Amino acid sequence: MIAIPQGTVAQWTALADRFRAIGLTSAWIEEQEKSIGRFPAAFGTDWLRLQFEVSDEPAALALRMLTRDEPVSTAQAIRALGEESFAFARDCSLIEETAKGWRSPLRLSLLDSLYILADRPEETADNVMGVGTTTALLARASYPDQRVESALDLGCGGGVLALLLARAADRVVGTDLNARAIEMARVNAMLNGIANAEFRVGDWYSPVVGERFDLIVSQPPFLPLRDDQEKVVYLHGGRTGDEMARLVVKEMPGYLTENGVGFVLADMVSTPEGVTALVSSEMVDLEVDAAVYCAQAHRQRDRRWWDEAYRTVEHLRRCGVTEVRLTLMVVGAGDGQPLVVAAERWGQIDRGLIDSLWVAGTAADWLEQRARVVPGTTMEGECPLGEKVRLWTLRSGRRSLRANPQVGDGILDLIRWVTRGETLGSCLGGLSESDREKALGVVDQLVRHEILEMI
Ligand SMILES: C[S@@+](CC[C@H](N)C(=O)[O-])C[C@H]1O[C@@H](n2cnc3c(N)ncnc32)[C@H](O)[C@@H]1O
Repeated sequence: MIAIPQGTVAQWTALADRFRAIGLTSAWIEEQEKSIGRFPAAFGTDWLRLQFEVSDEPAALALRMLTRDEPVSTAQAIRALGEESFAFARDCSLIEETAKGWRSPLRLSLLDSLYILADRPEETADNVMGVGTTTALLARASYPDQRVESALDLGCGGGVLALLLARAADRVVGTDLNARAIEMARVNAMLNGIANAEFRVGDWYSPVVGERFDLIVSQPPFLPLRDDQEKVVYLHGGRTGDEMARLVVKEMPGYLTENGVGFVLADMVSTPEGVTALVSSEMVDLEVDAAVYCAQAHRQRDRRWWDEAYRTVEHLRRCGVTEVRLTLMVVGAGDGQPLVVAAERWGQIDRGLIDSLWVAGTAADWLEQRARVVPGTTMEGECPLGEKVRLWTLRSGRRSLRANPQVGDGILDLIRWVTRGETLGSCLGGLSESDREKALGVVDQLVRHEILEMI
């Protein structure tokens, strides 16, 4: 097992100062990545690697050694880190000498102006996840416009979201089941000179029982666990993948302050009877989703890659899953349904958009009101097989988040029904408790997608 490097606050902050001094910043990395935009994707990656290989800039050398696992010579390592930080990195085993030169057994990632150390991605039991593309999405969606008093990062991994939120909150707690992740997060707090973030080991909410927070973020593990696989703590979220996310969302209201808000990002699955299946804008084929994750795990597009992807698809089919969607769920302190935003809107999602969608009420508060279809909503039928209409698409053009749910007959009947009654409550009154809850959930989604409105 790779030991987590130990050092004093002064040594870690000197290292981060060195990174800044040599221009190793996320802005610089973005600049490098942008420069390859004119090449086709496959060639662009090779081009970038060559660029770093031929560059003698200290930032490029540090990136090769600490991020890209491409060893550099002793002279180059010293050029990158300076004598003092080189000695520190060597002595605490942040870097090690191999036959090919100096490299780090860990991986440094950058997000905004944060430096985050984590494990290189491997399917080992206590592997610590650093910064992924989904981490960055969750960070953008949840970062508050105004300062908050307290924030919680559940399943914090290397601590990236907690440390980011430490700038916007007086007090932050990060929790993780993996003790190695918590140790790494503490090191990252020192590396970034952050003193108002505290890290605790434990199962989801157990380390914070009895506490409430203004802001909670979580990206639980969300890959499905097949019968032939060993569970990896940071990857697998139960048989269908979304079991952890459901648990985290369900318990969340009890840990939020009155006006608090929580954000959970995960792949959510759609089953024929699931509510998400009813309002399933932008669900993704199982094949596509499985292929994307396998592509990340297996760089070579060989037979093994396809086999893995298809095994996962078959497994999900056996579990009754029909589609998957990377989903951002926004949870309030009350008992309303979470606001569900399809995360395929990558570029658009930021806290401003979320706040504009976060309308005050929830379906349970609208029972005394009448529902009507938002004027201007259009309905288009599709006949993919040239027979009778199979898919209806409802579009509402009022907001920047354009609703585009593909709906079945069930949802059309529900719309007809709830728009005919005197009040929403009178329509739903005769239903059983569980049917009513389901219908309210769908009405809530339709309102948030601006298909229905309360008048
Ligand atoms: C997908 S990673 C997310 C890491 C980081 N928060 C991010 O967004 O990049 C999921 C994290 O949840 C943690 N985790 C898994 N099961 C957990 C549990 N039962 N309680 C607390 N944390 C858990 C894992 O150790 C891992 O760090």
